[in-house]
Amino acid sequence: WIAPAIALLIGYLAGSIPFGVLLVRLAGAGDLRAIGSGNIGATNVLRTGRKGLAVATLVLDAAKGAVAVLLVSRLWPHSELVSDEMIAAAGGAFLGHLYPVWLRFQGGKGVATYLGLALAMHWPCGVVFAAVWISALLITRFSSVGGMSAAVMAPVTAALYGLFSLAILFLVFTLLLLWKHRSNLERLLAGTEPRVGSGG
Ligand code: G3P
Repeated sequence: WIAPAIALLIGYLAGSIPFGVLLVRLAGAGDLRAIGSGNIGATNVLRTGRKGLAVATLVLDAAKGAVAVLLVSRLWPHSELVSDEMIAAAGGAFLGHLYPVWLRFQGGKGVATYLGLALAMHWPCGVVFAAVWISALLITRFSSVGGMSAAVMAPVTAALYGLFSLAILFLVFTLLLLWKHRSNLERLLAGTEPRVGSGG
């Protein structure tokens, strides 16, 4: 159990880096948590009006979990497609992003990190995630709907590929992601969720 425990810790440390908060602060644009939805993700960085920072947040929040999984996959060579250590690192990274100790466990909603983890664990699942996300976002113009749609499809995709341990991991991620989007769900039902590009 020592190897998965170390992998979990590596994942958590990588996942808990709050790139959105750091980049916005470094750019002198204030505290991201006091802007828009208060979330630390790329969608909220976009509300600062800085598109470059939003793209950087998206890429870095995706990359941090992916890098942890790829590192762990190298540290503990394995014959199976998805090893226990990779699962542990991915779980740690997702929890790190959602519940970072550095922000008193008030972290993000997980969409970008989920995308990066899906790409690193089994790239076809990541490609499907990205395709569903972009399609739902373009159709509805709600970032939250894009992310939630992609998350709901991810465990199904993994199961269709016959990767059952990955499907269960993704199911847990999806439930956590939906829980983290409960304020978005309330706003969607009330008709007050801002659309991307609306300036809201
Ligand atoms: O990735 C987070 C997104 O789905 C919603 O973000 O800031 O609109 O709550 P936000």
